[in-house]
Amino acid sequence: MLPSQRALFDMPRDVCYMNAAGWGPMPIATQEAGRAAMSRKGQPWKLPGDIASVQNERARTAAAALIGADPGDVALVPSVGYGVASAGKILKIARGSRVLVLENDHTSPVLEWMERAPAGGFTVEAVKQPANGDWTSAVLEAIERPGAPAGLVSIASVHWSDGGAIDLPKIAAAARKAGAAFLVDATHDAGVRRIDVKTLDPDFLIFPTYKWTLGPYGRAFMYVAKRHQNGVPLEQTSIGRKGVSAEDTIYFRDVSYRDDARRYDMGERDHFVSMEMASIGMEMMAKWGNDAICERLSMLTGALADGLANLDVRLLDSKLRAPHILCAAFPKGMPADLPKRLAAENVYAAPRLGRLRISPHVYNDEQDVARFVEVFRKAAFQ
Ligand SMILES: Cc1ncc(COP(=O)(O)O)c(C=O)c1O
Repeated sequence: MLPSQRALFDMPRDVCYMNAAGWGPMPIATQEAGRAAMSRKGQPWKLPGDIASVQNERARTAAAALIGADPGDVALVPSVGYGVASAGKILKIARGSRVLVLENDHTSPVLEWMERAPAGGFTVEAVKQPANGDWTSAVLEAIERPGAPAGLVSIASVHWSDGGAIDLPKIAAAARKAGAAFLVDATHDAGVRRIDVKTLDPDFLIFPTYKWTLGPYGRAFMYVAKRHQNGVPLEQTSIGRKGVSAEDTIYFRDVSYRDDARRYDMGERDHFVSMEMASIGMEMMAKWGNDAICERLSMLTGALADGLANLDVRLLDSKLRAPHILCAAFPKGMPADLPKRLAAENVYAAPRLGRLRISPHVYNDEQDVARFVEVFRKAAFQ
C-alpha cells in the first residue's frame, strides 16, 4: 500500500484536512518552485528565452500522462468552464436533440449548454439524482430513452456533491451508440481513478489542477479528440496559429490554425510560474499511480464509512461512490454549523448541498480517520 505522503506537505499533525475536493494543498516542492519562479519573474532579464515553452510543454505532457493522451491532444486552459465554452464553440449540436447533464452538477459542464439551448434549438435535460445513488444507470436510461435523441452528454465523472461515481466506459459506449457527443468534466477524477482517453474516446475531457492534482488555481487541461482539432478556438491568439511571431520580420506570416489541440490554448498561457507548479503535482500523482492512490484512498474512505456506520447518516454504497469521496447525508438535516464546529477542532470537510463531503488524499492516514470520526460524532450528534 502507498504509505502516507504527509511529509511532502506543510500539514501539522493536529490538522485533519479532508477537503481535497475543495482545495488540494500544494506540496512543499510546489510552493518552493512557485517562490523561485516568482523571483525569476522579478528579474526577467535573467529568464531563459525558452522558459515558457519548456514549462508549457512540461505541463501539457504531465496532464496528458494522467489521462493516457498524446500531449498534442491537450490544450492549456484556465478553467473547466473555459474548456466547456471552447467545446460549445466547436461542437455542432443537432436541433431537436437533448443535452444530458446531471442534476445539480457543477455549473461548468452545465451552464454553457443552458445558454446555447434557445438559439441552438436543443434542450438541456438534467438527469435526476437517483434515489439509489446509481448515477451510471440513470444516465444510461436517459441516453437510451426513445424520443428526442441525445446530442451530447456533458457530465462530471464524479458528482461533486454526493461523491457518486460514473462508469465512464459504459456511458461512452452508450453515447457513441446513440450518436451523441461526450464531454467529461474529470475534475474529481483525473489523477485518481484510471482514465485512458485512447480507449474511452470522449470528445472532450477537462480537469483543473487546484483540487486532486494538488496544483494552483487557474491551470486546467482540455483533451480534444482528433476529430475536433479543426474547430475555431474561443480566443484568437498568435499561439494558436502556425506562423504569427513577433520575432519574425513579417508578423502575420501564416494565420492558419495549428493542426493539433494546441490551437485551443488560452491567451497569456505563458504563465511559467503556475505552469511549473501545476506540473509538479501532476507528476507526483503519476509517480504514485492510479492503482496505489485508489487503494490508499479507498482504505481511508472505507475506514471513515465504518466509523460513521452506527450514526444517523446515510452514505452511498461503496460500489456506487468514488473511492476518494465520502458524502454523509443527514436524514434529520445537517446541523448548520457542523463545518464550523469541526474546524474549531482542526478538522476540515465541506458542506455541499446538505451533505458533508469528506475527501481525503495521500497525506491522510488512519490517525486522521480516527480523529475525524471522534470529532464528527461529538460535533454532529451531541
Ligand atoms: C465538478 C466540478 N467541475 C468543475 C469545477 C471547477 O470549474 P472551473 O474550473 O470552471 O471553475 C469544480 C469546482 O468545484 C467542480 O467541482
